[in-house]
Amino acid sequence: MCGILGIVGNVDVAPLIVDALKRLEYRGYDSAGVATLSNGTLDRRRAEGKLVNLQRKLQGAPLGGHIGIGHTRWATHGVPSETNAHPHFSAGVAVVHNGIIENFAELREDLKRDGYGFASQTDTEVVAHLVARELGSGKTALEAVQAALKRLQGAFAFAILFKDDPDLIIAARNGPPLAIGHGKGEMYLGSDAIALAPFTDIITYLEDGDSAAVRRAGMQIYDVDGNPVERRCQRSIGTGYLAEKGNHRHFMEKEIHEQPEVISRTLSHYLDFANDALRPLNLPLDFAGIDRIALSACGTAYLAGLVGKYWFERYARLPVDIDVASEFRYREMPLSRNSMALLISQSGETADTLASLRCCRTQGVPIGAIVNVQESTIARESDVTLPTLAGPEIGVASTKAFTCQLAVLASLVLHAAIQRRTLTPDKARDLIRTLSEVPRYASEVLKLDCKIEKLARTLANYKHVLYLGRDTNFPLAMEGALKLKEISYIHAEGYAAGELKHGPIALIDENMPVIVIAPHDRIFEKTVSNMQEVAARGGKIILITDEKGAARTTIPTLETIMLPDVPEFIAPIVYALPIQMLAYFTAVHTGSDIDQPRNLAKSVTVE
Ligand code: AGP
Repeated sequence: MCGILGIVGNVDVAPLIVDALKRLEYRGYDSAGVATLSNGTLDRRRAEGKLVNLQRKLQGAPLGGHIGIGHTRWATHGVPSETNAHPHFSAGVAVVHNGIIENFAELREDLKRDGYGFASQTDTEVVAHLVARELGSGKTALEAVQAALKRLQGAFAFAILFKDDPDLIIAARNGPPLAIGHGKGEMYLGSDAIALAPFTDIITYLEDGDSAAVRRAGMQIYDVDGNPVERRCQRSIGTGYLAEKGNHRHFMEKEIHEQPEVISRTLSHYLDFANDALRPLNLPLDFAGIDRIALSACGTAYLAGLVGKYWFERYARLPVDIDVASEFRYREMPLSRNSMALLISQSGETADTLASLRCCRTQGVPIGAIVNVQESTIARESDVTLPTLAGPEIGVASTKAFTCQLAVLASLVLHAAIQRRTLTPDKARDLIRTLSEVPRYASEVLKLDCKIEKLARTLANYKHVLYLGRDTNFPLAMEGALKLKEISYIHAEGYAAGELKHGPIALIDENMPVIVIAPHDRIFEKTVSNMQEVAARGGKIILITDEKGAARTTIPTLETIMLPDVPEFIAPIVYALPIQMLAYFTAVHTGSDIDQPRNLAKSVTVE
């Protein structure tokens, strides 16, 4: 939700911190700030809005100091403002924080009784005063932080500066990730390895409950009981490739166009293209012994899982129980000893999905996770991770991660079908070959960008849009609606086409474009009936289909986007691209901030 950064170095660190915060801005961008310690004085610059506002402030009033912390915020407590921007100060202490302190109100009252005044509405300021109060009682900096941590309930990742120690940043983690980077005579810390990439790729991740004293010469980590502990030091993968836009206007546009390449890279991890075979997965289970999959994720990852449900049940005859993680974690779903859990997450840090994983852990079932960030918490806490090799996804709207999640799910389904003998070897080989064709189809579909961009100019004029689909196109209808609303701010809903007459048809009139996702498959005729119901009420239809579907449809449409004929198995992956492109170009015309839409953040690390 927020991005935090710290450097204990040998040059003025404020410019380095701001530059690194740029790599964290996708996590939150309501406000930003930097604090440094120079000649015994803690000082800070903060600004509301985008990071560029902080840069301007620093140009006008530079900050010196070879040690500092920085923050880019997604507001949880307190409106986005300079006053609520981090770092927060208290007597000789500066704090930046990612997470939520759930008991901050009672702590705030306790501190007020001790005479502490509050300058902000944030939960974070409570932490600064707590540490200052502990320091004032004679504790060392580390003792003060560890004592303060024991008072906190909730999720947090901190970096804390101390006026009296120019060679110390204390870090602490309980929930949101925190990485420590190892330099030469310098040390760094940040919310993820991408932020630290310009400085180092040698990374140590703190575990929940850890605190760490970070100095130029190195660091010491302590566990939740304050005992010194060692954590794995690793070379971070994928950060050498720094996420840059290249010649695209937005990260989202770049990431949409990367899909043929990254889907191919992902599939090559699971398929032996030369022999139309699957590569071994080394799963800690045999699907022949599994009677149910409990699948949980959020947002777009959840919709990928919903497509996966259709596939697991159709091709592997394996029942799937799926729920959004925020419901799954409280549902108390009983899992039999022959169940397995499957989580899907691009960031691998989504709080609700991580909580769902931990619920499954208490029931002792094997846990698999489809993740894009291999060093993430969800990856580390799973029994087996199934990587999507999409590379860093910076645009808040998930695109390439979604299609790579589908590619992994499709591979896993075939793996399960073969182990459960629900597919003949020939059929399995045929589906593997079909799956390996996805990158080629994806490249074909990207060539429709001009036609889709033109349609988007019209769509941008509407206030409400309905997406319809059947079978695996139903989750796609919801994904199309999610993409449109989260980046263009146009209200959109995705519905099962068969549900239209059970209510949503009341919405249909000339002001409600209806986007119908319907490759010519075995239930295409059913969807044609739905389109007739829409047309009969003056609704404007945008049909996304293939040549056969277009030829079969005599109903007048606002536009028909015609894709190549695609085998049914892989249609959901290929049809994801036009709905992404339509949302993207519509948002270009509505003029919203596509890579950093309002109110959103790339990784939702709080409940
Ligand atoms: C997708 O476009 C959204 N940005 C959002 O729904 C996202 O998919 C969701 O927050 C899950 O994130 P994760 O995959 O990192 O867990």
